[in-house]
Amino acid sequence: MYILSEEQEDVLRDMVSNKHTIIHGCGGSGKSLVVKQFYEKEKENRVIKTTAMTGTAACLIGGQTIHSLIYPAKKGFKGAMRTLRKIDTVIVDEVSMMNTEMFEEIHKVFCDSKENWGCLWGGVQIILVGDPYQLPPVKGAIFKESEIYKTYESEFHIHTLTRNFRSDTDLTYYLNRMRISNSEAHRSIKELKNETEKRRISLPKGFRRTLITAFNSDVDSYNNRKLDALPGETHVFRTFERGGSRVRRGENEELKLKIGAQVILIANLDVEQGLCNGSRGVVVGFSGPGVVVEFVNVGIRLINQTMVYKGDDMEKGVFQIPLKLAWALTVHKCQGMTIDFAAVDLRKSFGPGFVYTALSRVKNIENMIIIGDLDPNYNFSQYSI
Ligand SMILES: Nc1ncnc2c1ncn2[C@@H]1O[C@H](COP(=O)(O)OP(=O)(O)OP(=O)(O)O)[C@@H](O)[C@H]1O
Ligand SMILES: [Mg+2]
Repeated sequence: MYILSEEQEDVLRDMVSNKHTIIHGCGGSGKSLVVKQFYEKEKENRVIKTTAMTGTAACLIGGQTIHSLIYPAKKGFKGAMRTLRKIDTVIVDEVSMMNTEMFEEIHKVFCDSKENWGCLWGGVQIILVGDPYQLPPVKGAIFKESEIYKTYESEFHIHTLTRNFRSDTDLTYYLNRMRISNSEAHRSIKELKNETEKRRISLPKGFRRTLITAFNSDVDSYNNRKLDALPGETHVFRTFERGGSRVRRGENEELKLKIGAQVILIANLDVEQGLCNGSRGVVVGFSGPGVVVEFVNVGIRLINQTMVYKGDDMEKGVFQIPLKLAWALTVHKCQGMTIDFAAVDLRKSFGPGFVYTALSRVKNIENMIIIGDLDPNYNFSQYSI
């Protein structure tokens, strides 16, 4: 357990005393950590649903996607509506990606399920977590533009965490300048790129930097090309639901690995020892149903199938080897993560929040290289906080 900062303690106090809470703050300011601690502290006292806007971000906090919580009830499934009726508190992480339409849909579904149309989201306690300088909604305006949100805005206690726990002071200096203004952000990136070139280090033997780039198609073809190029047998690990049926759809349906594959852990297995989401490793063997991985900071570990994701109204768990190929990741997939070694590709950057999200994943300048230059017309943020 970490010792929370005073700012984090203030947030925790509001959450525990049942207030609608919004937690903002830069990447690495401990937003997700404080909600995880809130969950641990309060899970015996109330029904809390921990969710996030993307599957990966949900894995990082041991929760489910907000879609998987809401959509079965929206479709009218009675079990799903009963689940919502029992909820006291709902947490949504990476909420900068939530648009007005979704905010209002959630409102309607909770009101219907709880048969309470007079309160925001049917009277459930709402905890929204995210950084307006990171990824925005895929389409539409951010939820704060919603008329329903505006009606209830004064009920929210809004906190901004200011200390960066992920990145050291040198990197934080450049990252914070990217939040001041567009022109300052462009200047900061140029200087940061020079600095990364000066401080470039060689990685431990066998490790490669994770390429962080824009498009899924580029990431998949890069990872597959690298995997194909490795000699040796391919081992396939499938994803199962509780009860044993195979998951046949979705991004994590199956994982193909070989010895030598660059991987990233997508679950918190042993936080005290540093075996947590984003830990970088290399596959060094296979043992029974598990995978033997050498991690940067904790050495060789056996990784077995684990529950990474809690699904819809049936509380289905999804069990898989909590690893992902990590020669490359999209910015969308790595939102929320701390990444050990990164090569950030600026060439196809699109949309506000994209560049800041990518660059704020690492701990220090030495652990990062920057590829390409940013389009001078790139716009860092369209929101004010
Ligand atoms: N009070 C604390 N003491 C020590 N480490 C902390 C503390 N709070 C957070 N951290 C660590 O800092 C890192 C970043 O925290 P976290 O992922 O919660 O940040 P975040 O604000 O959610 O970032 P992002 O915007 O990227 O999702 C994690 O490794 C976390 O364990
Ligand atoms: Mg987070």
